[in-house]
Amino acid sequence: METTGIDQALIPSHVACVMDGNGRWAQRRGLKRTDGHSAGEEALLDAIHGALELGISWLTVYAFSTENWRRPTDEVRFLMGFNESLLVRRRDELHELGVRIRFIGRRDWRVPKRLLKQMDRSVELTKNNTKLTLTIAFNYGGRAELVDAVKQLVEDGAKITEKAIAERLCDPEMPEVDLWIRTSGEHRISNFLIWQAAYAELVFVETLWPDFRREHLAEAVLEFQRRDRRFGGLKNES
Ligand code: IPE
Ligand code: IPE
Ligand code: MG
Repeated sequence: METTGIDQALIPSHVACVMDGNGRWAQRRGLKRTDGHSAGEEALLDAIHGALELGISWLTVYAFSTENWRRPTDEVRFLMGFNESLLVRRRDELHELGVRIRFIGRRDWRVPKRLLKQMDRSVELTKNNTKLTLTIAFNYGGRAELVDAVKQLVEDGAKITEKAIAERLCDPEMPEVDLWIRTSGEHRISNFLIWQAAYAELVFVETLWPDFRREHLAEAVLEFQRRDRRFGGLKNES
């Protein structure tokens, strides 16, 4: 991978990605929308390799949103089966690469039991890996996550603070997002990591997800390194 110009001291530790544009990719080729989802698998694997090469420690990808249930039943059913089979086919390879697989999102009745089982198996198999934490956001929505966190907070009778909310998010260990990428030219957040990405650098790329490769990730990292993160303070403030 071409990494010229990348500053190794300024690698974002948490990169989040909205894997968007599968349907358009397929339609442009006269294929079914679901063929676009299938083609997204190679993009995901390549992005994971890229993250490992760049030394990114957390990669979070949006695979299915709480709003995606609005899609036609056939497409939803396909996505459930596809994600299940992807885990079964790819988890050993990811395990060997040192990837720790995690999930965020609601485990409600709509998610097939067999998919939940494969998610749990993948998490269990890879739980001690340390190179990269790959979090798959599935049946995930930032608002749902916040509602669940606040419900828990009320149940616990805890004092309402940012820390108390953060500790009750889907994965309390997840660090804040540094670099937030969306493919396919859409400039929307679509409910992805709204709390964790409060100070993320947003990078929008035109590439449709199935065409995304590690080089695109490297380019986004370069763009990230050109930004001046101020966190509400002043430039060059230490
Ligand atoms: C993203 O691709 C994958 C999911 C939402 C599951 P889309 O299916 O949204 O593709 P477009 O945006 O219709 O092209
Ligand atoms: C966001 O993409 C969800 C995922 C990529 C899983 P969508 O395609 O569902 O988002 P909208 O509908 O364009 O906002
Ligand atoms: Mg889309």
